[in-house]
Amino acid sequence: MKFFLDTANIAEIEEGVSWGCVDGITTNPTLISKELVGNTNFKTLVKRILDIVDGPLSLEVTSTSSDAMVEEAKRLKKLGDNVVVKIPTTVEGLKALKVLKARNIDTNATLVFSVNQAIMVAKAGATYASPFVGRLDDISEDGMSLIEDIRDVYDNYNIETKIIVASVRHPIHVRDAALIGADIATMPFEVFKKLINHPKTDEGLKRFLADWQKIDKSKLVF
Ligand code: E4P
Repeated sequence: MKFFLDTANIAEIEEGVSWGCVDGITTNPTLISKELVGNTNFKTLVKRILDIVDGPLSLEVTSTSSDAMVEEAKRLKKLGDNVVVKIPTTVEGLKALKVLKARNIDTNATLVFSVNQAIMVAKAGATYASPFVGRLDDISEDGMSLIEDIRDVYDNYNIETKIIVASVRHPIHVRDAALIGADIATMPFEVFKKLINHPKTDEGLKRFLADWQKIDKSKLVF
């Protein structure tokens, strides 16, 4: 299973990558807007992320017509080979996915909220599909059951589109995504940080180190 960080924050990306567990990055217009402060512009931010991460970086189009999405996608793709273009799950988005597939530009269909949408974006040629589990949970629907259903359907028909579990809010989303067999979970750094924590690990290490301190130091020469 791959872990992507859902952030455009350089400090978070650098820290996450240093842990050896980050396989890629996803962003959206909201996340990018938070980082365009001071002298940082979109291009410099994207270049910095691409320098840090050896994996796909999803950048989202903000056009709404398919022709404009395709033109925007071509410009985004020029920023780096690892750029994946995020396309909204709309009719215009489907048309753009089809054209971009023919041009060998990797795409990530975003804002997927149903199995039928997941099938349609896959048929149109999406490289990745991003169902948003947290936003479904927010409206009292079961986000993870959508992931189970999409996994089943994609497996039923040998669909190669990769499932990115998105809108992840807590570590249980990540565990459940892994158990279901989702290809990728993309998560905020705050969630990523929590995945490694366990109180029994902290307690156990504390005890080991305390016992080590009690040993006569002359016995520890090596
Ligand atoms: C995915 O690619 C999106 O950027 C993201 O997961 C949205 O998460 P949110 O619902 O927490 O904003």
